[in-house]
Amino acid sequence: MRKRVSVIGAGNVGASLAQMLLQSGICDVVLFDISEGIPEGKALDLAQACPLWGSSSFICGTSDYAHTAGSDVIVITAGLARKPGMSRDDLLFANAKVVSGVTEKAAPVSPGAVIIVVTNPMDVMAQVSLKISGFDPRRIIGMGGVLDSARFRTFVAWELGVSPEDVEALVLGGHGDLMVPMPRFTTVRGASITELIEKERIDSLVERTRNGGAEIVALLKTGSAYYAPAAAAYQMVEAIVLDKKRMMPCSAYLDGEYGAKGIYTGVPVILGSGGVERIVRMELNEQEKQDFAKSVEAVSSLVKKLNL
Ligand code: LAC
Repeated sequence: MRKRVSVIGAGNVGASLAQMLLQSGICDVVLFDISEGIPEGKALDLAQACPLWGSSSFICGTSDYAHTAGSDVIVITAGLARKPGMSRDDLLFANAKVVSGVTEKAAPVSPGAVIIVVTNPMDVMAQVSLKISGFDPRRIIGMGGVLDSARFRTFVAWELGVSPEDVEALVLGGHGDLMVPMPRFTTVRGASITELIEKERIDSLVERTRNGGAEIVALLKTGSAYYAPAAAAYQMVEAIVLDKKRMMPCSAYLDGEYGAKGIYTGVPVILGSGGVERIVRMELNEQEKQDFAKSVEAVSSLVKKLNL
């Protein structure tokens, strides 16, 4: 039987993700949104593209959580996006309400699902979903590091004039202004960029990566990025649905790993059908440890504001 993936929120990220899932044909899709008509309309449109894409996947658009029952994966994209001048953290209270409401309804009807949280501030929203669902923390994962690493890969590729396909990058920490791009672990076919690019240029690529979301918000003015966020969420869904055991940076619940306890932050994990199947431990140097700790502290201060 094909796997079922429910995408909660039929906005730009949700609809783009639904499109990618249908084009891949790896699962059936339920596109949920509370705005009646929107998920049904987008689902019909997407369904009518399937013959052209050669896809046998089904899609259903709905405003009824009953239709999401039995999902293998639930991706939460619902919530407000930032406007120019806002940080992801400014969305804290409004989106905490949305994510807790969604989890309250979606988790009980799909008790075996892996939940991927995209809504910002994402690390904190994963913690909200964990608390409300009561799921095993390995089955609640935040999407941030894959997107931030893709941004870093893009900027490194442009800098060196190579294909982004040949660039591997790692961005750890929370998906916020203090995220931690890791030049030492960022490579072009195995060669670290610390050997290929001068320090000042690396610093500016790191800064552009940290600012990657805000740069797009400032240009769009009415919303935030969605193609790359959807593509990043797609890659995580694919790893879970196909049980690929891929290693990627995701926001995972840390229980002492990397010196953090009881909090979601971006670390390298192995993703498979069980969700986070393993947290990969990498040796960080002193500076990296300090930067990581600062980023965890920023997530932690938001968690405290919500009294989670
Ligand atoms: C970004 C938002 C999706 O980084 O967090 O673009």
